[in-house]
Amino acid sequence: MRRRMVLGLLLAGVVAGSVLRGEEGEAKETKPDREAVQRAHDTVKLLDTVHKGYVVNITATYVKAQVRTPAAHVAKKVFEFSAKNGGPLVRLIDTTGSPQNKANVAKSDFEKRAVEKLSKGEKYVSEVGHKDGKAVLRAATPVPVVMSHCISCHAGFKEGDLIGALTYEVPIK
Ligand code: HEC
Repeated sequence: MRRRMVLGLLLAGVVAGSVLRGEEGEAKETKPDREAVQRAHDTVKLLDTVHKGYVVNITATYVKAQVRTPAAHVAKKVFEFSAKNGGPLVRLIDTTGSPQNKANVAKSDFEKRAVEKLSKGEKYVSEVGHKDGKAVLRAATPVPVVMSHCISCHAGFKEGDLIGALTYEVPIK
């Protein structure tokens, strides 16, 4: 009887331990509920549409002005503005190995994994992680050459080629 109780307690400890360990082995994190993760996915979708929407439209509208200031430059200013004002973190990164700007290479482990998966043809890469003890959704979407204008600066690629990714870090709440 007593041995059974001890065994039971041990088992309960193992189960609780694995629940409390978050992804990537972070200690003492509880798993966020599915609806909260889904809401974070929805936020990523909305942000992705908005950011891609203005980049494509700036590129299409300011065909001449962009020769000096590409839409990517404006996008990065908007990402910075958003982060400063408490918004989710967004980055535009390279997937080709030859970025226009070296600052745009994948940095975090997630970004590196995302580049690998997007390069294999995946259309959406995401994982739940933790930052400062809080659950976050990390996600990445492909940035292909969507129009011929892109090639005037990103030479050597053709329409449809994957050249980059947008990465997001959205709080799950
Ligand atoms: C006028 C030249 C120009 C055009 C047109 C242009 N880009 Fe860029 N792109 C750049 C420059 C310059 C950077 C680096 C900007 C920075 O980091 O401040 C960049 C950065 C990027 C990056 C980040 C990786 C890297 O190479 O640094 C991606 C992805 C990207 N552009 C995609 C596109 C897409 C898609 C289009 C077409 C919708 C496009 N660009 C049109 C010049 C251009």
